[in-house]
Amino acid sequence: MTPIKHASATKHPTSTQAPSAEARAYDAEPYLPSRGGLPAHRRAAADCRGCPLHEDATRTVFGKGDESARLLLVGEQPGDQEDRQGEPFVGPAGRLLRRALDESGIDMDTTYVTNAVKHFKFTRPAGGGKRRIHKAPDLREVAACGPWLRAELRLVRPEVVVALGATAGKALLGNSFRVTKDRGALLPMPSGQEDGPYVVATLHPSAVLRADDREGAYAGLISDLKVAAQALAEREP
Ligand code: URA
Ligand code: SF4
Repeated sequence: MTPIKHASATKHPTSTQAPSAEARAYDAEPYLPSRGGLPAHRRAAADCRGCPLHEDATRTVFGKGDESARLLLVGEQPGDQEDRQGEPFVGPAGRLLRRALDESGIDMDTTYVTNAVKHFKFTRPAGGGKRRIHKAPDLREVAACGPWLRAELRLVRPEVVVALGATAGKALLGNSFRVTKDRGALLPMPSGQEDGPYVVATLHPSAVLRADDREGAYAGLISDLKVAAQALAEREP
């Protein structure tokens, strides 16, 4: 994917008058370190103000796992548990994902797991209340956070990337991505690089948890994950 160049006004402010949050372009790029590996990026991401989602969330949840993983998994955004604990996929969706990976012959501990968006987006129940209700990130927020995801892909250099759900699919394959038509196939990453990774898209584990036909949805997730597992087995060095 060609990184979209944004106006660099946020990088080199020439005026002392800060632009309003709305006027400022949503973009994580100015917060990326110019060099360094994943630890340097993780540290820098902790202070990202690339879009307004950092304002209400507790912390940045950066990717985690094997830094030379052959398989990299991309979710949507941290949930309530992830926001509290600071790690991706440690809540109910993460438990389901670990089990599904196991059943597909993949040990989650050998993978690198991250999200398209690194801050938790939520609303409060109408009429007040403490509960934080997950809200899907919009395209601007996904685009703003893209530089972190692209940095993780560049640094981990996986052979196969699994897109979990529509947000991850769009972040990796473009806005025309649809889970229903694109899932379960080994697709080339539109990076332009010949040795770029393959992408396999599937349902989001939270969608499995919410599905009316939970068993069917889970079986579909497994069958898509097996496509990724098979691709890795075939490319075994
Ligand atoms: N859902 C996601 O997409 N990512 C997480 O890290 C947790 C839940
Ligand atoms: Fe930065 Fe991404 Fe968080 Fe927005 S969601 S503030 S771009 S890390």
